[in-house]
Amino acid sequence: MKKKIIGGVTAVLAGIGLYKLVNRQQDVAPSSAQEKWTVADIPDLAGKVIIVTGANSGIGYEAAKEFARKGAQTILACRSLDKAQSALAELQAELPNAPVEVMQLDLASQASVRRFAEAFKAKYDQLDILVNNAGIMMVPYGRTEDGFERQLGTNHLGHFALTGLLLDLLLATPGARVVNVSSGAHRSGSMDFDDLMFENGAGYTPMAAYGRSKLANLLFTYELQRRFEAVGADAIATAAHPGISQTNLMGHMSNRWYYSLLMLAARFILQSAAMGALPTLRAAVDPAAKGGQYFGPDGRNERGGYPVVVESTAASYNQADARQLWQLSEQLTGVAYTQLAGTAKG
Ligand SMILES: NC(=O)c1ccc[n+]([C@@H]2O[C@H](COP(=O)([O-])OP(=O)(O)OC[C@H]3O[C@@H](n4cnc5c(N)ncnc54)[C@H](OP(=O)(O)O)[C@@H]3O)[C@@H](O)[C@H]2O)c1
Repeated sequence: MKKKIIGGVTAVLAGIGLYKLVNRQQDVAPSSAQEKWTVADIPDLAGKVIIVTGANSGIGYEAAKEFARKGAQTILACRSLDKAQSALAELQAELPNAPVEVMQLDLASQASVRRFAEAFKAKYDQLDILVNNAGIMMVPYGRTEDGFERQLGTNHLGHFALTGLLLDLLLATPGARVVNVSSGAHRSGSMDFDDLMFENGAGYTPMAAYGRSKLANLLFTYELQRRFEAVGADAIATAAHPGISQTNLMGHMSNRWYYSLLMLAARFILQSAAMGALPTLRAAVDPAAKGGQYFGPDGRNERGGYPVVVESTAASYNQADARQLWQLSEQLTGVAYTQLAGTAKG
């Protein structure tokens, strides 16, 4: 019993990156940069078109609000139209004339992803920034409409398909960016290509699947950047993580004991969703950001603070894994990145 409790606590702490609290050797800020990048650094975005997935809540909502504040045509891509309309009303209460619209997108449904991409392309002929933010965390084993394990299916495969379906527009828009929102939890993730999706739930743990999906976000980012470079595209791929921020994300957790523990911890350590959105915002709009960069908070153990370039694990830079994940993702979703095909070095 004691062992089980210790194991459970460790899993949860690892789940949100808190495991570093007990790892004092790594207890240093990730960057020596003294700058404090804030929303005041966001340039004018008039004329830009930006999609934010999962924009009705948390990090996505805060990021979308700042894009809109700076004049970008901002699309709240959300699975629940009711929630999206409430978020829109809240946003417009603060920014009455904000150029914001809601479009339906369920990343757990490849059909929905295709419908969204078609609807978007029918309306817009440019896409400056695609923020792949939506996510679920540590849910019980389950499958998406297409039979994918839910966390990988939503957090990675949904966004992989979305990005591929919008690639024409991204490549046609000068200086376009794709921003993938990962997590400190990518550190506990590992790829297993023989059983990528914990078939039938065997060996599944909510944390292992979440960590894998967040590692996949980074493998995808770095591979996309390599492929952009290989074709000389005027587009970059960046990534971000929000540290540990107060959002609705933990509400997905099935284990209410873990959830209660986290809520208790939350009072002491979580930063606001607005602060958590800063790495995403910087990855999306900082003119100095480079493709392949990963932004996170500059505070102790990247739990909170102002956004700087941070490091991800060696596993996230494994090019063989990135290529294999890419190929599998193309097969599973049926979305082929033909414009970038054959560009990755073998
Ligand atoms: N908060 C943190 O401390 C933290 C730490 C590390 C990483 N992150 C990452 O930050 C991102 C944003 O999470 P958050 O913390 O802002 O959590 P959140 O408040 O729960 O927001 C998540 C958003 O994703 C949406 N979503 C979930 N499943 C979806 C689907 N199938 N299709 C479309 N949208 C879907 C949610 O929609 P509904 O409202 O309909 O559920 C919600 O809008 C995630 O990628 C998460 O992994 C967060």
